[in-house]
Amino acid sequence: MKALVLSGGAGTRLRPFTYTTPKQLVPVANKPVLSHVLENIRDLGVREVGLVVGDRAAQIEQAIRDGSEFGLRVTYIPQQAPLGLAHAVLLAADFLRDDDFVMYLGDNVFAEGLRAAAASFHQRRPDAHLVVAKVSDPTSYGVAEVGPDGTVQAVVEKPAQPRSDLAVTGAYFFTPAIHQAVRMIEPSRRGELEITDAIQHLIATGHPVTVDRYDGYWKDTGQVEDLLECNRVLLDRLSPAVDGQVDDATRTHGCVVVQEGARVTNSHLIGPVIVGAGATVHNSRVGPYVAIGRECFIGDSTVQDSITLDGAAVRGVHQLRHSLIGRRAEVRADRRTAHRRLILGDDTQAEVPA
Ligand code: G1P
Repeated sequence: MKALVLSGGAGTRLRPFTYTTPKQLVPVANKPVLSHVLENIRDLGVREVGLVVGDRAAQIEQAIRDGSEFGLRVTYIPQQAPLGLAHAVLLAADFLRDDDFVMYLGDNVFAEGLRAAAASFHQRRPDAHLVVAKVSDPTSYGVAEVGPDGTVQAVVEKPAQPRSDLAVTGAYFFTPAIHQAVRMIEPSRRGELEITDAIQHLIATGHPVTVDRYDGYWKDTGQVEDLLECNRVLLDRLSPAVDGQVDDATRTHGCVVVQEGARVTNSHLIGPVIVGAGATVHNSRVGPYVAIGRECFIGDSTVQDSITLDGAAVRGVHQLRHSLIGRRAEVRADRRTAHRRLILGDDTQAEVPA
């Protein structure tokens, strides 16, 4: 089996971060979402990965290279414009050939991996096997209508009146039968070739399509809230490891990871928390649910439920919570002034006490 990972897309809902970083490379628990994706794929025993990339191809190639760091062989497949998931399958036909494959959206997090779904695909080998999850508002997803025997009777993309609460997640298993289906469909109202329509075409032409219900944690990381939630969930699954320096004046509680070259002095780390390589934490209370990126500086501050990206600095700030601080950004409290001074980039958001 091969894998097709989709990493195009503009990530408009994650601005301003996506002005400089493709959404798949935004880190949660100090690792890009795409790295979590590739690790899950390797855990399925897959080695050959086709990575579909858009206008951020160079950055993704720089981060993932040939995939050997993950035990994978990665082939890059350029997509000139985000014309849909089924369009990506069309582009990848030469790479996929006659192999079965798992298609995996590069911004989806499946915290418990996909081994159970892969096993039931191999066992039953329908032409499409969808990983679905119960959601409270299915209108922004593909929605599957499933019969009592577990076969799919219909899939509809973002229906206004959903007929089930089972969302199609970002993981799909296919036999080569999908190649014919993606050639038969027309672009949708949003101008994309929808994989949902190709799957519906399989159903309409008598091909078996089945589902696996995902009971683990799944998230399509479209917005900042989603990233913070994934960060909490993945931090909860870390094992403690202190490779950097933690001085005697520092107290730690729960699961604490301090990566190589990081220094923590006179602070309180409340796990789960991860302090990235080369970062400095001084006189601060950090955690729970905080991921500090590489080379960050946190001084005289209290930080909870937040992600600071590489090179960010937080100085003298109390009660920083639910925040995502961009690369090299600085948040600083100044006791000498009574007003607030903000230098914010395009599309940034700041919340200050009223
Ligand atoms: C895409 C699919 C949709 C699926 C979702 C899962 O939606 O079209 O069927 O439910 O991914 O993340 P999009 O993210 O393109 O809106």
